[in-house]
Amino acid sequence: MLIAQISDTHILAPASDQPTAELRAECLRRAVADINGQKPDAVVFTGDTTQHGSPEEYALLRELLAPLAAPLYLVPGNRDDKDTLRVAFSDHPYLPGSGNFLHYAVEEHSVRLVAIDSTSPRERKGRFCARRQAWLDEVLSEQPERPTLLFIHHPPFDVGDHYVGGYRRPEEAAALADIVGRHPQVIGLLCGHVHWPVEIRWAGTEARIMPSIAVDVRKGIDETEAKGRPIYFLHRLLGAIAIVSDTRMVSDPTGKIGDSDLKCQAR
Ligand SMILES: [Fe+2]
Repeated sequence: MLIAQISDTHILAPASDQPTAELRAECLRRAVADINGQKPDAVVFTGDTTQHGSPEEYALLRELLAPLAAPLYLVPGNRDDKDTLRVAFSDHPYLPGSGNFLHYAVEEHSVRLVAIDSTSPRERKGRFCARRQAWLDEVLSEQPERPTLLFIHHPPFDVGDHYVGGYRRPEEAAALADIVGRHPQVIGLLCGHVHWPVEIRWAGTEARIMPSIAVDVRKGIDETEAKGRPIYFLHRLLGAIAIVSDTRMVSDPTGKIGDSDLKCQAR
């Protein structure tokens, strides 16, 4: 099974006077076109889809994501507004129609996909409260033999000096590691939030953080080659055995962004 991951697009409204509005839209537009060429079985979006969570931003986000051929699964980031996202994507049947958390399990693929909602209103840091802990433990206990891929916005581990103490309560990040460690069918955890690419072993499984699709806020990338080119991850899931992740650098056939100064392209 092939999974494409999108993260941290931080889409701004078309009417925004912020100089990177068009740049960010173009980054996602070209990433979507490239993903379609790779023919993944599914696309997971690990949050911070928009910058402010406004209806105008979600309207543009929908338009940019519409060409995706593969099924798309969204999980919120701290920049998202869960209620507005829920309304904007009300035709996405996997999203819970009510309740505080946009978490869910997807059963229709060879690998089970489980989205974990690590957000709380007006909170930048991650949360994984007792209710979410109980939910995840129960969901993973339902199908202990089935290879399962988790995805979440906030990584529940530190990344060098770049991302330390990402959860409001450290014991909640530890609880997530404890639950995952007790369910060996979990083959991986996909994250966003840090805008910095990471591959590590965590809680007995593989964890990945992908850089932001928005090139103006990404970190940890050698920009001499990648400047202006959106980057996303393609994860090949080999049943219960392994997850092999490739970094895909989107080409720039239009030359609209290319080597030129990013700010100049944002008008
Ligand atoms: Fe972000």
